[in-house]
Amino acid sequence: MKQGDFKIAVFAGDGIGPEIMKEALKILKIISDKKNIDLQLTEGLVGGCAYDHFKVPLPDSSMELALQSDAVLLGAVGGPRWESLDYKVRPERALLGLRSALGIFANLRPVVAFDELLEASPLKKNIVQRIDIMIVRELTGDVYFGKPRGIKKGKDGKRRGVNTMAYSEDEIRRIAVRAFEIARTRKKNLLSVDKANVLETSELWRDVVTEVGHNYPKITLKHMYVDNCAMQLIRNPAQFDVIVTSNLFGDILSDEAAMLTGSIGMLPSASLGEKTALYEPIHGSAPDIAGKNIANPLATILSVALMLRYSFSMPLEAGLIEKAVAETLKEGFRTQDIHQQNKKLVGTGEMGDNVARNLCKLLN
Ligand code: IPM
Ligand code: MG
Repeated sequence: MKQGDFKIAVFAGDGIGPEIMKEALKILKIISDKKNIDLQLTEGLVGGCAYDHFKVPLPDSSMELALQSDAVLLGAVGGPRWESLDYKVRPERALLGLRSALGIFANLRPVVAFDELLEASPLKKNIVQRIDIMIVRELTGDVYFGKPRGIKKGKDGKRRGVNTMAYSEDEIRRIAVRAFEIARTRKKNLLSVDKANVLETSELWRDVVTEVGHNYPKITLKHMYVDNCAMQLIRNPAQFDVIVTSNLFGDILSDEAAMLTGSIGMLPSASLGEKTALYEPIHGSAPDIAGKNIANPLATILSVALMLRYSFSMPLEAGLIEKAVAETLKEGFRTQDIHQQNKKLVGTGEMGDNVARNLCKLLN
């Protein structure tokens, strides 16, 4: 892709989405101004706000916009207002629809603890120190999309819920390749997480990941059962480098791992496919704190950094955004979710302003 002409679809979504997105766009604008790149940002509606307008969470216009963009930046979707809706039009369906239509099968969730926030973790400092984990979660398969699915009434008149856990070897192979490639740029340790002692899908997963591993002799591949991995993440998280796992296990393990860093409000994510990519914070729409200017915008700002790194080949600028966030934390600025004694409590907007100030300093 040539530098200087990027189309970005912006979906702020629901709850705190619009507030955190505003701060992320501040940061993106600084980069585009200073680096003189032309960013075409187009806003669209997905989630509950889209349902309110169109009676569907992912209207065709938004889907088109996403498909025609080089990258999608998303805030968060969902909230209690839409929880009683039919499952098919719930805000979360928009996320799943986008993932599937864009073919963004590789979800990267970096779990990095900022030194400044170690005290904010519920775990002891000596356990979370120096963690730097990359969770690579398969995102377009598994029980999330497998068929048959649904709730049906049996002959006995009783309801039965069904979902199908399924993976084809091609689906496993392509996520394994991505994970090995990522491991190659890091400490060269890949852990594949499955439940091969019980599930056939996992047995195939383990076989295919092992096969792919033969092409990467310099990378140490290990396997672990998901229940053990959940335990090891708390016992000794520093042992992990890259973790590759299926959609459902990745969903659960990444929320668990997020808490190691002190707050789920800190973690960005990138979902990569063959053509396009989607960037979003891993936290949700936090409706209870929406509109109060207290949400933490750092995960969304860090998602912008991932966008520059993975979609626009601008690793230098990505690194500067990450550094600006670290500087801001070092200066003592904290939103409520990561606030500690003797630190400066700031709102969403002020946090964004401080990162922006530090970024300008670093860019000069
Ligand atoms: C995530 C979320 C989503 C998921 C929900 C909102 C559909 O929990 O991105 O981790 O389960 O994938
Ligand atoms: Mg989740």
